[in-house]
Amino acid sequence: MMSNLVYLNGEYMPLQQACVPVLDRGFMFGDGVYEVMPVYSGFPFAVSQHMARLQRSLDAIQISNPLSNAQWDEIFSRLIDQNYPGQDCAVYLQVTRGVMEKRDHVFRHDLQPTVLVMTQAAHYPSQSRDTQGIRVITQEDTRWQECHIKSINLLPNALLKQYAVEHDAEETILIRDGLAIEGSASNLFIVKDDLIRTPPVQRCMLGGITREVILGLCQQHKVVAREIDITEDELHDADEIWLTSSTREISPVTTLNQHKVGNGEVGPKWHQVIELYQDYKQQVMRGGNDTV
Ligand SMILES: Cc1ncc(COP(=O)(O)O)c(C=O)c1O
Repeated sequence: MMSNLVYLNGEYMPLQQACVPVLDRGFMFGDGVYEVMPVYSGFPFAVSQHMARLQRSLDAIQISNPLSNAQWDEIFSRLIDQNYPGQDCAVYLQVTRGVMEKRDHVFRHDLQPTVLVMTQAAHYPSQSRDTQGIRVITQEDTRWQECHIKSINLLPNALLKQYAVEHDAEETILIRDGLAIEGSASNLFIVKDDLIRTPPVQRCMLGGITREVILGLCQQHKVVAREIDITEDELHDADEIWLTSSTREISPVTTLNQHKVGNGEVGPKWHQVIELYQDYKQQVMRGGNDTV
């Protein structure tokens, strides 16, 4: 089997050879940001939105973008063509602030950022999937206030996800001040009386690209969807709940804290919206515009 090629700081190399110094601020402090982008049949999905969010994350932590969009694109293409030619996969990229001479919370502005890009296998759900829906639970949101930044510092998210898995669930929906914000690695939608709702973009939530694509598609196809707060009570009273992310796409939730969501079956609005999403993916794979 061909080795898994990765990009690290200007060079391409097998994954096993990719190393960073221990004084890299990513290793010492989780001082960096990342992106995960789906790739369908060799075509990266929603690249411009992912690159715009990367820029917002970098700006928020005062790291200058070390590469131009054309350079990023070239790296994505080379890795996809080498590792998963014409196939589905996911691109992972991470930028850390770089390596210091000694461990120090205070950073300098002249460090050379560390850039890692790799691809990994991804198994996206097919259209006939998700007929059962997934089980989720709720927990208080223990993360920091700045979750709009896609930080590599994911310890709270990892602990909250682990909690779900150890309690017979797949994902944890996070509650902050009585509001349902998002999942530990996904955004939240509910349906009540035929109205699709998702919390508005806010500092304590990651503005997901999948969420953005879904809202764009709803607008384009005149499916009413509103960005409004969802209380914990409204979450429990929802007819449908969905969790969205680049790798899970749109997962229908049929069990919340061991209780059925709605009638316990995957709902009609999910069927309507997943069809729009799948059609849009096909369009992107045929080389159409990837911006909704
Ligand atoms: C906390 C959090 N919210 C939402 C999302 C969904 O974002 P996207 O749709 O861009 O994958 C993720 C994805 O990893 C996430 O970690």
